[in-house]
Amino acid sequence: MEESKKVIFSGIQPSGNLTIGNYYGALKNWVKLQDEYDTYYCIVDLHAITVKQEPKELRRRTLEVLAIYLACGLDPEKNTIFIQSHIPAHSEAAWLLNCFTYTGELSRMTQFKDKSARYGESSISAGLLTYPVLMAADILLYNADLVPVGSDQKQHLEITRDIASRFNNLYSPTFKIPEPYIGKSGARIMDLQHPEKKMSKSADNPNSYILIMDPPEVIRNKINRAVTDTIGVVKYSDDQPGIKNLMDILSVATGKGIDEIEREYEGQGYAKFKKDVGEAIIEELLPVQNKVKEYLNNKDLLEAIYTKGSEKANYVARKTLSKMQRKIGFVAKSR
Ligand code: TYM
Repeated sequence: MEESKKVIFSGIQPSGNLTIGNYYGALKNWVKLQDEYDTYYCIVDLHAITVKQEPKELRRRTLEVLAIYLACGLDPEKNTIFIQSHIPAHSEAAWLLNCFTYTGELSRMTQFKDKSARYGESSISAGLLTYPVLMAADILLYNADLVPVGSDQKQHLEITRDIASRFNNLYSPTFKIPEPYIGKSGARIMDLQHPEKKMSKSADNPNSYILIMDPPEVIRNKINRAVTDTIGVVKYSDDQPGIKNLMDILSVATGKGIDEIEREYEGQGYAKFKKDVGEAIIEELLPVQNKVKEYLNNKDLLEAIYTKGSEKANYVARKTLSKMQRKIGFVAKSR
């Protein structure tokens, strides 16, 4: 029965073109979970505006992210797929939760520290600081049990759990305490040029990342240019972060174990290995890319999907929000 299924919530920001980090760290797992759970997958456009966005691009990317969700295999009949800004309860709940969150804990978040260093003191929006609170609102409004994300989001899950427990203790049990769901492989795909950093859609050098929508020849080139080392052995070692990352990618793309990959490329150098990594990514992404293009040519279908998703999401989110408002002590609206 639908009611007895555990709940999943996750989202991706339409703040840049999606990378294979988003695919292997999040999307690929979402697809696997869709049969077993009551799933909510959101395009988190409210989060995207914590840094500057070009309005036209934001609108285009929001629909492209939706098309990517569908093309990766999320079935709109099985999943509640929606756009965050369509559900006012996210912004409202975020305000309420802001009042149960300390600025000290927010300023300690790694992502906040990284982004504020990147954008400079004077152009850091308050939204960038309170970003994890909106994320907590996203998750808690649906009483999610599990949140499938890459390992970079673990800290945000921890603060979500802290905020939820604080609210529950102050009033009475209101929120489920969610757990992160982090895949065994692909949870942290690294930058191809600087393999000590995670791959990010906002990196300056396009050779640092592979986009889900990169054409095959671009993927081949980027893998070819990926930083390796002079050791010349395909071995899973911290001394060879570039090779380690490519091995992770090959493993998550093909399902082959790391040991198996080490054996397969023993004594072969890097050329054949890199070629195979590129081809494995292409094989996986090409059908997705073709479907994305089809979905983007059918805007009416996309609209029907996000409209239907927002109806269910709105119903669930409003219910939780009313509960929060009641517990806090707000006077109920007359109908
Ligand atoms: P975002 O948009 O940065 O990334 C979306 C998802 O992709 C994962 N990811 C990666 N996984 C492995 N390797 C990488 N290099 C890599 N880069 C990104 C992220 O871990 C994430 O799962 N704050 C979130 C969005 C969000 C959210 C939520 C997530 C808003 N509300 C509620 C879950 C639940 C973010 O910025 O993700």
